[in-house]
Amino acid sequence: MTTRADPPMFDAAFQAKLALLIAWRRDVRRFRDEAVPQAMLDHLLDLVQLSPSVGNSQPWRIVSVTQKARRAAIRANFEQANAAALQSYQGERAALYARLKLSGLDIAPVHWAIFCDHATRQGQGLGTATMPEMLDASVSGMIATLWLAARAQGLGLGWVSILDPRAATATLDVPSDWKLIAYLCIGWPQEEHADPELVRFRWQNRTLAGRQVLER
Ligand SMILES: Cc1cc2nc3c(=O)[nH]c(=O)nc-3n(C[C@H](O)[C@H](O)[C@H](O)COP(=O)(O)O)c2cc1C
Repeated sequence: MTTRADPPMFDAAFQAKLALLIAWRRDVRRFRDEAVPQAMLDHLLDLVQLSPSVGNSQPWRIVSVTQKARRAAIRANFEQANAAALQSYQGERAALYARLKLSGLDIAPVHWAIFCDHATRQGQGLGTATMPEMLDASVSGMIATLWLAARAQGLGLGWVSILDPRAATATLDVPSDWKLIAYLCIGWPQEEHADPELVRFRWQNRTLAGRQVLER
């Protein structure tokens, strides 16, 4: 990846497309049973290296989970965590929760576990002495970039966080300094929607709570 001498012009047409991309990015849990070309995944992996990170630390570490036994263990982990989560709701909320599809682990062709390497020396500690959580924040920023880049290729991405992270980390047998940030399902979406699934299933509407800007 090289640095361009002449900065590109992002014209109005591009800006309109970018707005559409942001609006049509979805958390996808319903995938088609169809492989994703490795070249497309490699392209995404190259692109996300350009994501922002504290001190330019690039602390994300990616595990592609392909082994059947490990996938089955992650799936069992999810089923258990999801059943436990269901217990924390009562009445209609519990019935609604039980109807939600909260992962695409069953069909998604690509499973990527995304970790943060808390032992990395890259970045020389810049910004993390004061706010150590910025390493994790950098990984979340990378995932946001990946989410949009994947959507631009027509791929769907679903973030699964209903997992016991300690058990998932043990299942994936990674270095002890790696912290699980996200377990991602990636593949071709079965359906396209302009609104979130949780809105469509009447779990949680969007609000303007985060739109207010305080002035001080
Ligand atoms: C940090 C994070 C964790 C999430 N975990 C889950 C999850 O465990 N299961 C799930 O179905 N969706 C999960 N989501 C997706 C959200 O439910 C989704 O982003 C939200 O409902 C808005 O929908 P949209 O992404 O389609 O706009 C997660 C999203 C984020 C950012």
